[in-house]
Amino acid sequence: MTIPWWRDAVVYEIYVRSFADASGDGVGDLAGIRERLPYLRDLGVDAVWLTPFYPSPMADGGYDVADYRGVDPLFGSLADFEALVADAHELGLRVLVDIVPNHSSSQHPWFQAALRGERRERYIFRDRTNNWQSTFGGPAWTQVADGQWYLHLFAPGQPDFNWREPEVHEEFLDILRFWLDRGVDGFRIDVAMGLYKAEDLPDLPAVDEQAFGAARSPVWGQPEVHEVYRSWRKLLDGYPGERMAVGEVWTDDPEDLARYVRPDELHQSFNFAWLQAPWSATAFRKVIDDTLATVPFATWVLSNHDVVRHRTRYETADPGTGLSRAKAALLAMLALPGSAYLYQGEELGLPEVKNLPPEARQDPVFFQSEGKLPGRDGCRVPLPWEASGPSHGFSPGGTRPWLPQPEEFGALSVQAQTGDPASTLEFYRAALACRREVVEDVPHAIEWLDSHEDALVFRRGSLVCALNCGTDAVRLPPHESVLLASGPLAGDALPPDTAAWLQAPPA
Ligand code: GLC
Repeated sequence: MTIPWWRDAVVYEIYVRSFADASGDGVGDLAGIRERLPYLRDLGVDAVWLTPFYPSPMADGGYDVADYRGVDPLFGSLADFEALVADAHELGLRVLVDIVPNHSSSQHPWFQAALRGERRERYIFRDRTNNWQSTFGGPAWTQVADGQWYLHLFAPGQPDFNWREPEVHEEFLDILRFWLDRGVDGFRIDVAMGLYKAEDLPDLPAVDEQAFGAARSPVWGQPEVHEVYRSWRKLLDGYPGERMAVGEVWTDDPEDLARYVRPDELHQSFNFAWLQAPWSATAFRKVIDDTLATVPFATWVLSNHDVVRHRTRYETADPGTGLSRAKAALLAMLALPGSAYLYQGEELGLPEVKNLPPEARQDPVFFQSEGKLPGRDGCRVPLPWEASGPSHGFSPGGTRPWLPQPEEFGALSVQAQTGDPASTLEFYRAALACRREVVEDVPHAIEWLDSHEDALVFRRGSLVCALNCGTDAVRLPPHESVLLASGPLAGDALPPDTAAWLQAPPA
């Protein structure tokens, strides 16, 4: 059996608004990405995932799609997209695009027609509401002029589709074909456990039972959703070139997750349990064991555009801990079997930007929670490419980026870190290069080695990976040589918050 490209791929998430701006309006765009593709090739990733760039009123940063077959002028044109795909392929990078099937924008022609009273069955309209809450805060229902209410599990500008309506299925198959015909290598499926709601939309006994993605909820993960992915899989399999799909599946149950990646469904789904695990060897080991026991093609992810950056999540009262742990977690993740998803800026060690002024914030989470929750803007601050300048090289000329960058971004910029062997960026480059050389040749299965309870030590053939999550140094396991470490080693000791890749001694 040949191994499909995505099984061990390292995929880099590009949050399009914040990666690179070529047009000079302060917002990232497709031409900006195109200019920076060589950076990604040199970083050593295999593929990019582009967040939505479709025409959108931007009620949720583009996850409110008004036209599934176009490019918003803010981001460029269809010709820019085609040029981007061609260049990426030329450089050996695959391209995944985001598909948003749970809801459209309220500006989508179908919803506009529904407001006029035409074909309302394509959305979820009712005369009466239930007690469901929007994931972003506030009720999940909004009333229209004639008195009916429509369901939106996210912002009011994101009405949920009614997947019990066959036309919705036809439409999405056609949208997938549209992008497949333009050469995309696959899709990231937004809110993949959404789509269907329990038929009678029952009230929840307690509102917290709706917890985003909870298994066994009338809101998420209805069994009918799997038929959708079966039909999408057939479509993808009918195209040449190993096209794939990865689902955004939030669930608290590994068995539930596994159902999305049955052989005739999605190829992969994000493993959020890894991202949600606390800094603990026991917790990490449990996630790894559960994942490898239930999911045929594992994935690993530490950050994305919806969560606090992991450098900041791992921070303690002791400054510097967050970055050390972030680098160590990366080494552990890249040594595991399966594919790894990176989020733009983690290779620079960017922290969450916590002090954005309220007037700069744009995330609907901030507004719908009436400012009680900061929202997700702090992980979406435009990337610093250069050490100085009004946008740190994000935009040309004197343009200011759409979210303000903090002072410290200068020292964390690509320019400031390139060539400095002690930098996070050079560490990522080295780790990805070493993964290509070593990790891809070792057996897929892992073998746990005896270790201190605060450490994680596993072996894959000639590679041994050791991670120390404790507060004291632990002894490195027996090895021939050290291939790479996330921080300085003290002789044979692995300091706290550090990981190492070792060449195993001959058997
Ligand atoms: C997904 C996206 C998130 C978006 C939500 C609604 O969780 O990753 O950014 O707000 O779906 O589309």
